[in-house]
Amino acid sequence: MQYSEKVMDHFNNPRNVGVIDDADGVGEVGNPVCGDMMKISIKVDDDSISDVMFQTLGCGAAIATSSIVTEMAKGMTLEQAVAISKKQVADELDGLPPAKMHCSILATDGLKAAVDDYLNKNGREPISGGLAHDDPNFDPHAIEPEEVCDVEG
Ligand code: FES
Repeated sequence: MQYSEKVMDHFNNPRNVGVIDDADGVGEVGNPVCGDMMKISIKVDDDSISDVMFQTLGCGAAIATSSIVTEMAKGMTLEQAVAISKKQVADELDGLPPAKMHCSILATDGLKAAVDDYLNKNGREPISGGLAHDDPNFDPHAIEPEEVCDVEG
C-alpha cells in the first residue's frame, strides 16, 4: 500500500493533537468498520472555528486524516466545516489508498459532531445533516466498492 509523502508527514508529525480544556464543542465518534475512535474539540468565535484539537485511537490513515482536517477546519465557518468531504480530505493529503478512504470519514464525522455539540449547547439546531456513521444504510464498501478495510477481525 502506497502512502503519499503528505500522509506520512501528518502521520509522523500530527498537528493539533490534544484536547481543548474549555472547548465550546466536542465530538466523539467511532468507525463501525474497524472500531477506531476519534475525539475532536473546537473553540468557536463568531460562528467560525478559531481552534481545534484531536485525539485519535486508530490506524495511520485515521491519524493523518484527523490531523489534516484540523488544519483545514481552522478559520472555517461552521457551515464550511461540516461540508468537508472525505474526497476533499484525501485530495488535501495528495491522495489516500482506496482501502483507506473510509478512514477519512472518522475525521469528518468527528468535526460534524463537534459543531453540532456546540450548536446544541447554545440552543440551536444542528447543521451537519447527521453523521455518515449514524446512517442506518452506511456501508463504506458500498460507497467505495473497491474498498476493503485491511484491519483483521
Ligand atoms: S480508521 Fe480504522 S482502519 Fe483506518
